[in-house]
Amino acid sequence: MSQHLIDPHGGALVNRFAASARASAIKAQAPKLPRVTLTAKQACDLEMIAIGAFSPLTGFVGQADFVSICKEMRLSSGVNKGLIWPIPITLAVDEATKSTLAVGKQAALYHSDGTLLAVIDVQEIYPHDKKLEIPNVFRTEDPAHPGVAAVQAEGDWLVAGPIEVVTVTPEKEPGEQYTEYRLPPAKTRETFAQKGWSTVAAFQTRNPIHRAHEYLTKCALEMTDGLLIHPLVGETKPGDIPADVRMDCYKVLIDKYYNLKRTMLSVMPAAMRYAGPREAVLHALVRKNYGVSHFIVGRDHAGVGNYYGTYDAQQIFDSFAPGEVGLTILKFENTFYCKKTGGMASDKTTNSPPEDRIFLAGTKVRDLLKAGQRPPAEFSRPEVADILIRWAQSS
Ligand code: ADX
Repeated sequence: MSQHLIDPHGGALVNRFAASARASAIKAQAPKLPRVTLTAKQACDLEMIAIGAFSPLTGFVGQADFVSICKEMRLSSGVNKGLIWPIPITLAVDEATKSTLAVGKQAALYHSDGTLLAVIDVQEIYPHDKKLEIPNVFRTEDPAHPGVAAVQAEGDWLVAGPIEVVTVTPEKEPGEQYTEYRLPPAKTRETFAQKGWSTVAAFQTRNPIHRAHEYLTKCALEMTDGLLIHPLVGETKPGDIPADVRMDCYKVLIDKYYNLKRTMLSVMPAAMRYAGPREAVLHALVRKNYGVSHFIVGRDHAGVGNYYGTYDAQQIFDSFAPGEVGLTILKFENTFYCKKTGGMASDKTTNSPPEDRIFLAGTKVRDLLKAGQRPPAEFSRPEVADILIRWAQSS
């Protein structure tokens, strides 16, 4: 296929998996190295780096990058100097672990179940400046914010350097890996090319797809060759709907309500940070690495609670020069089912009064599902509602 897909961020896709001979050598050598056990968020970040989803990053960031990412949303080092990067990807460790590490040496990185994942060449160990990171990345220091709380709970030292990865899959959790949907960027690009798609719209989500989401995806697909439904399946906060339940919802929905020739489902193994605007930028750059040309940003993208304005995650893209982000951001207004016009709509397309708009708050939806009741069909497809009822009543 000759279609040209969008270039990755920084120009080339990273791949940090060790080839098989090197992987054997790493496994033999690892028991002699200092040991770092990764948190769930760090394991997600490791996978994102390994597969090239975080290109051009080849490892956990050093201090100069950390500072310029926090202050200016840009990388500061080497050939990537000045390239947009909105959230520092760090390896935080506590004092006890730090005391076992040395600059210029390697360390072995383990999953919490004991699986050896990777080695890191320790190039820097530096203080974790949470006072710089938290207000810049999250626009709040409120410890009730789940992303803020996660950073506050992290170690006070950051370890930086390139990684070489043996595996991203823990040995003891084979069931929930969504293996057939876990396509790395290079494979995703190949699949787009095989399908003959050169423009692709991606939809990030951490929720089941309801009618408003469905509307955004179909509007986007009207403008592109294909649609990538690309749920985040890495770590999310307690209270979010688990990824395996959501996957069942996506599959049943796509099968019945989407054009299978134009729609593709695969997963993004990133952890959620709930950083609103900055995370929207990260989500977009990552999708560019996957070969996506158009990225959907609706209302309160990657937000939580009331920390961000409804359209902050759209406005942040205006702070970059045209073309810098590289892909087209499809900005959508808050959408809902409109009784007056008999379809999905937004303030752009209807002037109906509030009583004609079907909008349900998340807590109301939870209550309905727990009680075994489907939300209105104008809010959620019945097949999706039924999966969520089974989950809500069993959890
Ligand atoms: S997110 O954390 O992944 O952003 P969610 O899964 O709820 O959360 O949203 C996925 C995408 O759909 C985001 O771009 C979000 O802005 C958008 N979105 C969700 N609901 C609506 C809505 N009613 N109107 C417009 N955009 C929406």
